[in-house]
Amino acid sequence: MKIKNICCIGAGYVGGPTMAVIAKNNPNINITIVDINADRIAAWNDSDLSKLPIFEPGLAEIIKSNRNKNLFFSTDINTAINNSEMIFISVHTPTKTYGKGKGMASDLKYIELCARNIAEVAKTDKIVVEKSTLPVRTAETIKSILHNSGSDFKFDILSNPEFLAEGTAVNDLLNPDRVLIGGESDEAIECLANIYKSWVPQEKILTTNLWSSELSKLTANAFLAQRISSINSISELCEQTGANVNEVAKAIGMDSRIGSKFLHASVGFGGSCFQKDILNLVYIAKSYGLNEVADYWEQVILMNDHQKRRFSDRLIKTLYNTVSGKKIGMLGWAFKKDTNDTRESAAIYVTDHLLNEQANISVYDPKVPHNKIQTDLNYLNTRTEDENEAGVSTSSSPYDALKDAHAVAIMTEWDEFKTYDWKKIYADMKKPAFIFDGRNILEKSEMEKIGFEYYSIGQ
Ligand code: UDX
Ligand code: ADP
Repeated sequence: MKIKNICCIGAGYVGGPTMAVIAKNNPNINITIVDINADRIAAWNDSDLSKLPIFEPGLAEIIKSNRNKNLFFSTDINTAINNSEMIFISVHTPTKTYGKGKGMASDLKYIELCARNIAEVAKTDKIVVEKSTLPVRTAETIKSILHNSGSDFKFDILSNPEFLAEGTAVNDLLNPDRVLIGGESDEAIECLANIYKSWVPQEKILTTNLWSSELSKLTANAFLAQRISSINSISELCEQTGANVNEVAKAIGMDSRIGSKFLHASVGFGGSCFQKDILNLVYIAKSYGLNEVADYWEQVILMNDHQKRRFSDRLIKTLYNTVSGKKIGMLGWAFKKDTNDTRESAAIYVTDHLLNEQANISVYDPKVPHNKIQTDLNYLNTRTEDENEAGVSTSSSPYDALKDAHAVAIMTEWDEFKTYDWKKIYADMKKPAFIFDGRNILEKSEMEKIGFEYYSIGQ
């Protein structure tokens, strides 16, 4: 089958950039991205590209050149399903907040709704591609819904997990380390592989069975998160012993068996994937009675929680054991640089801890607006909306955010933070002025020369 029309359900951080890059490299395929969220679709269609719902370097340019040529955004889900030979499911799969598996398992209700929607409206054979990260054997559920729907049509299910990282999504999609396609039908696999072959070298396209593909995605994220928790655990030891975590990371990273990437000690990993996927892995292991496997991976999350808590505890302790009524300037709210995504950002949890101690938080993030910060805090449900408004303000200038602050907490590694006039910031802060660098982006000696008391992770 030659694919001429693709539908992608879910216009989010995965669906949007992935389809944009497929559209850019396959001018002869029409792609429609659909979403139940009409505001999101309207934002994707906005002529003002600064209003796109997702900020990713390089994305606006692709949207500009392909939108309404072979890339469309729509809320008409049924028409897009019907017109397409291939349907990507790119909806979110958050950790369950209710019922069995609460706090651990992935909530598959959005996936199931998509499968039911496809089964109901399809009037031709379809290839259905799982793009969202899913627990192993989810394809079984999708298959069962599609095949038992009474539909006369044939559905082939493929697993094609996305390995892009936010902030570098476009580059990751253009130059992937590998593309993974799991499936049962060679013909369906070939159809999807042909789409990627228009820009990805053949040897980087890996095919496996469905279950290996699903499990590989969870495993990749678990391994990546494990590296961060590993170096973060060493960072605590460094602070006690006088070792420097950056030097340790460099020394071990030069061992080619270990490798140098993903060894930056930090205030803790965030993002929509790592925690969710590990919890999911733990839940699956437990459900098979594999308690040692579950405990092993759970420790990665526990270490990450410890790291965030440790950061705020150190700040409070250093500020003479009280931050009550003190202004703490926070640089960065996104979970990493070059994204406006804040899901599971360490900043949310550190702010929560500091608010418990009655601090006044003043935030500056180049891409995250005030209302998003408030929504993140309200979602925690630890205090009222009014209390969050009263405790956390935002500024459109970093200098305003840090004026009269007792301490600066650096939560995100935005490059612009390194270029600030730190002498001016120091002059405008209360003395002694402290920096708690949760990303190790500033030079300790330079900051100390200015007069700051500087604390980083693992030094
Ligand atoms: C991750 C995976 O990298 C990607 O392959 C998968 O598709 C989705 O999950 P993402 O969460 O977007 O991507 O970003 P990533 O770059 O992996 O960073 C995750 C978190 O770890 C961020 O908070 C980041 O700041 C932190 N991190 C990363 C560190 O603290 N230290 C590091 O060395 C690397
Ligand atoms: P991800 O990071 O996995 O891309 P997002 O939350 O950014 O997650 O995007 C998922 C998108 O999927 C959201 O915009 C949401 O509105 C959309 N969505 C969820 N369920 C459905 C559905 N049944 N039909 C269409 N869109 C859906």
